[in-house]
Parts: sequence; C-alpha cells; structure tokens
Amino acid sequence: MHTRLEVVEGDITKLAVGAIVNAANRSLLGGGGVDGAVHRAAGPELLAECRTLGGCDTGQAKITKGYDLPVEWVIHTVGPVWNGGSHGEDKLLAGCYRESLKLGEEHGVKSIAFPAISTGVYRFPLERATRIAVGETKRHVEGDTGIERIVFCCFGHDAYACYRPTLGRD
Ligand code: AR6
Repeated sequence: MHTRLEVVEGDITKLAVGAIVNAANRSLLGGGGVDGAVHRAAGPELLAECRTLGGCDTGQAKITKGYDLPVEWVIHTVGPVWNGGSHGEDKLLAGCYRESLKLGEEHGVKSIAFPAISTGVYRFPLERATRIAVGETKRHVEGDTGIERIVFCCFGHDAYACYRPTLGRD
C-alpha cells in the first residue's frame, strides 16, 4: 500500500476527507483554535457525543461522528502542552499522530487530515512539531495501512512554509 502525503493551507473543517483530526483538550468538551472551529462547524450533536466519552489522555485519541461537517469521522486527540521539551512532549505528540492513524484504520478511513497539533494554544515549537508530525506519520504508513491519503492542513502561511520542505516539497 502506498500512502500519499499532502500539505494544504486552509481551514480543516472545509476538507472533504474521510476523517479530520481535532486538536482537543483532555475534557473533549470544546475550546478555542481548531477545536472551536470543529465544534462550530459540526453543530451541537458533536458536543453531546463528546460528553459520553469521559475525556481523553494526552497523546491518545477518541473518535466521534462528523455530524454537520463534510466528513464521516472526527478523531479527537490531545496534544501535550509545551513545557520546555524535557517533559515527554515529543513522545506524547508522536502518540497523537500514531493513535489517530490507528483509530482511523480501525474505522476503515481512507483519507485523513491533521492540523498542526499543539502548535497553537499549547505553544509546541512549530519546526520541532512538524518534524515529529511528518516523521511519525511516515513511519506509521511504512507498515500495513488501509489509509491512502494523509493531508497536513496548515492554518496560515507559517505552518505551510514549514511543512512543505519537511515533506520534501520545496
Ligand atoms: N483549521 C486548521 N488548523 C487550524 C484551524 C482550522 N480551522 N484553526 C486553528 N488551526 P490550536 P493546540 C491551527 O490552538 O495548540 C483549544 O482550545 C493553529 O493555527 O487549535 O493543540 C483546545 O480545546 C495551530 O497551527 O491547538 C485545547 O485547549 C494548530 O491548529 C488547546 O486549544 C493547533 O492550534 C489545544 O491547543
């Protein structure tokens, strides 16, 4: 299986893929940034389902339906808050990508889009986060996967300019 990796600039809630990943917090009850945008676009039923999930640990992921979004699934993952880099942040961030991909595979997802998890409110340095996002994703799809397409959705030019060369597309 050969998985295509892409980078796009834009709003993840507009993407027509099988699943989008939400950069949530441990409560899974909504927030700002991409989380706020996902809940606004999905409508109140998303929050109702999230209330049944009992939260989510950092570096892990949980899945819900997409409701009013143009996707079947939303995978909610909780990135680490940046705290200097020596508190396991790298491993936890890699876990977000790996666990989200695993959950997507278990649900038969063929295409999945990720935001730049932890690089907003949680202040993870963008370049370091990008290397982890791309590295962990590439490592995962070298194994057996049913996922055909992975999109890194960059909100703004800074993230786009960082992902492009990291993916080998200058
Ligand atoms: N589409 C794609 N990416 C987006 C969008 C969007 N519509 N909106 C923002 N981003 P952040 P975090 C980018 O802060 O750092 C929430 O309150 C943004 O530019 O959304 O993981 C949660 O509830 C940045 O590159 O998530 C948590 O409390 C990236 O998404 C906390 O923030 C992540 O920024 C999570 O913080």
